[in-house]
Amino acid sequence: MPTLEINVDGLKLPNPFVIGSGPPGTNGNVIGKAFDEGWGAVICKTISLEADKVTNVQPRYARLRAQGSDEIIGWENIELISDRPFSVWMDELKAVKDKYPERVLIASIMEEFRKDAWAEIVERCEAVGVDAFELNFSCPHGLPERKMGSAMGENPEILHEVAGWVNAVATKPVWAKMTPNVTHIEDPARAAFRAGCEGVSAINTIRSVLGVNLETLRPEPSVEGYTTPGGYSCRAVLPIALRMVMEIAKVVRGEFPGRSISGIGGVETGEDAAQFILLGADTVQVCTGVMKHGYGLIHPLCDGLLKFMDKHKFERIDEFRGHSVQYFTTHFDLVKRQRESREAAKAKHDAKMIRADDQWSGDEFVQQSDALARG
Ligand SMILES: Cc1cc2nc3c(=O)[nH]c(=O)nc-3n(C[C@H](O)[C@H](O)[C@H](O)COP(=O)(O)O)c2cc1C
Repeated sequence: MPTLEINVDGLKLPNPFVIGSGPPGTNGNVIGKAFDEGWGAVICKTISLEADKVTNVQPRYARLRAQGSDEIIGWENIELISDRPFSVWMDELKAVKDKYPERVLIASIMEEFRKDAWAEIVERCEAVGVDAFELNFSCPHGLPERKMGSAMGENPEILHEVAGWVNAVATKPVWAKMTPNVTHIEDPARAAFRAGCEGVSAINTIRSVLGVNLETLRPEPSVEGYTTPGGYSCRAVLPIALRMVMEIAKVVRGEFPGRSISGIGGVETGEDAAQFILLGADTVQVCTGVMKHGYGLIHPLCDGLLKFMDKHKFERIDEFRGHSVQYFTTHFDLVKRQRESREAAKAKHDAKMIRADDQWSGDEFVQQSDALARG
């Protein structure tokens, strides 16, 4: 019987499925619900020291449906980080750890460009017992106006400096969450690893405009008739997330062996998760999928992943982690491989071509006849 248990950066998870930072980890109650249902770990909604600077708007989501169907395939949000007071968060995280001491609780944190603020948030979270950190360097809306979130993640030098401040004080594993709104994801990933982060998470949402309402001529989500570009998630982003995880996996393999990757973006099935793991992810996060299907999604996710493992006779996740990374190459190399394969096929075909009557053989008679035929 295959097992889904994993050990990542010293953290023991019953399965690789992690609640991604966002509404599904937005208070102690729902975090408890996620553990009760069986999620491998939970990353809380991003918290900061000064929640009074965070003001959300309604509506703050807009959704894209598949043509001719109700199925939601794309989801834009203009939600900020948590607007709940830090002291309340500390009480709730402590209560969660008291109730679920064996389960892995990861604090998603974000602060302004101040060393003392990052040190304070890390130390206070460690004091209530969190098991690891995810540094939100990636929220694409609202926070960049305060030089936070993706304003840091888009700049590898700043990311390196801030991640260094955190790693200087953190005694728990640290993952840096990448923004996809960059040309080369390898650059911020390298900066995080160089700064001592145990892992990176990829991806946060993609900066987007979901659409314009053709009745009102106003873009969505419309807040008093106006909007601001938001973050795109859900199934539509899966191929982009897979590509970025694969690129980071190559960096890990070549330059930072042993560092971890948490894959995120569009996961709704065990088969989606299997693909992230095949491309190098240690854990797989789900955010929008939980908003669509609820916390019970963990059951089909585990069943689907186990079914995949059973089919290929994998007993443990590390038997196939990163397996498919080897099949990525350059387009130049694809052309070369195709030319060589065609030449080999032609040589094989030519070898069957009869040039003298004593070459006819009883066993290959039909193929030899075919080789001499046209049409
Ligand atoms: C409504 C909403 C709120 C989110 N809030 C946060 C957040 O506070 N911190 C964070 O790091 N990521 C946040 N995210 C990003 C998700 O954690 C995740 O990186 C992204 O949505 C892609 O994964 P998914 O397709 O499974 O949702 C949020 C996403 C959504 C949809």
